[in-house]
Amino acid sequence: MNDLIITNIQELILPKSTDRPLKGQELDDLTIVENGTVVVKDGKIVYAGAHSDDFEAQEIIDASGKVVSPALVDAHTHLIFGGSREHEMSLKRQGKSYLEILEMGGGILSTVKATRETSEEDLFNKAEHDLLTMIKHGVLAVESKSGYGLDKDNELKQLKVSNRLADKYNLDMKHTFLGPHAVPEEADSNEAFLNDMIELLPEVKQYADFADIFCETGVFTIEESRRYMQKAKEAGFKVKIHADEIDPLGGLELAIDEGAISADHLVASSDKGKEKLRHSDTVAVLLPATTFYLDKNDYADARGMLENNGAIALATDYNPGSSVTNNLQLVMAIAALKLKLSPNEVWNAVTVNAAKAIDVDAGTINKGDKANIVIWDAPNHEYIPYHFGINHAEKVIKDGKVIVDNTLTLD
Ligand code: NIG
Ligand code: FE
Repeated sequence: MNDLIITNIQELILPKSTDRPLKGQELDDLTIVENGTVVVKDGKIVYAGAHSDDFEAQEIIDASGKVVSPALVDAHTHLIFGGSREHEMSLKRQGKSYLEILEMGGGILSTVKATRETSEEDLFNKAEHDLLTMIKHGVLAVESKSGYGLDKDNELKQLKVSNRLADKYNLDMKHTFLGPHAVPEEADSNEAFLNDMIELLPEVKQYADFADIFCETGVFTIEESRRYMQKAKEAGFKVKIHADEIDPLGGLELAIDEGAISADHLVASSDKGKEKLRHSDTVAVLLPATTFYLDKNDYADARGMLENNGAIALATDYNPGSSVTNNLQLVMAIAALKLKLSPNEVWNAVTVNAAKAIDVDAGTINKGDKANIVIWDAPNHEYIPYHFGINHAEKVIKDGKVIVDNTLTLD
């Protein structure tokens, strides 16, 4: 006997199972089954497709008028941090830029101070709360970075919290060491600090899957980033990079040359970088909520990347300074409007391609996959990016079990 049937699904969204990221026009190709059925047994998908009466199960959920999709994947977050930075809103109103606030010792460095002052237990509780919010919004696979410790003990503290969260909830979580996220005030020089972070690589390896670096004006140069990425690969890491977020330094080209699993941000990437995507499976992880929150007019050139047959994904970049949202549905809306992505492109970018960007087995619900599913309180897949800023996830199903039910029942 099967465990669960979801039936009468108005639209069943089925991204393709693939062993490499979808590229270029492939992103606009998405199977959407009208009047679909999903069948689950032992936490796995037994059937997902057109309506079928051939199955029996212990539990039946009627999804009439609703959309069903794989659970979403958030491929870039800074989930674990101390404090918050709402006071920066007024600095921004006074015209201070993100990099100016950082130069003043604010920005990332103020979160470093707060994170160092927060105990592992308190960090855990805060990050757990934020992670559960993500889950309630339909996300069941998450990448989580360190980068607010900037010294051995505090970087390890963040990574341990990340690993504990993954264990507690048995989640598809990937952990990223982002030691070179900023240069701390106590460092003698950028180079000396980068050397310290390179020395930590073998030790943090047991807690982290990826190594990341913030390559930006005033932070780390292209040459420093290249050196770090090469050392990280020698230490057994797959590499990622915060590239071309504000200034066009050539971070995308570097990421492709170094075979990075992803290059993230890419708002200011050069045409040369975008052209290189054609010959690469490096996923361009675009973070349009950051552009929105930094109040910039120019968004990443997603269309140009797709025209160059690039692979793109979308993520929140959840963090306390440049993207204060852990609602990936909002990112879908901003991407539809500002990156000019089609609904199919948006859905592939938050499911299968986001999974490729962090090397997790997630983002699809074809036969044999884990039954990580969202039932959306929406009449069609286009409606979710359209009606923006609210939570459309009605039920979140993990390994075949309903773990979130946002249905309101008033007596
Ligand atoms: O991805 N740009 C670097 N890191 C984060 C922001 C971190 C912060 O402002 O606290 C980002 O945008
Ligand atoms: Fe980031």
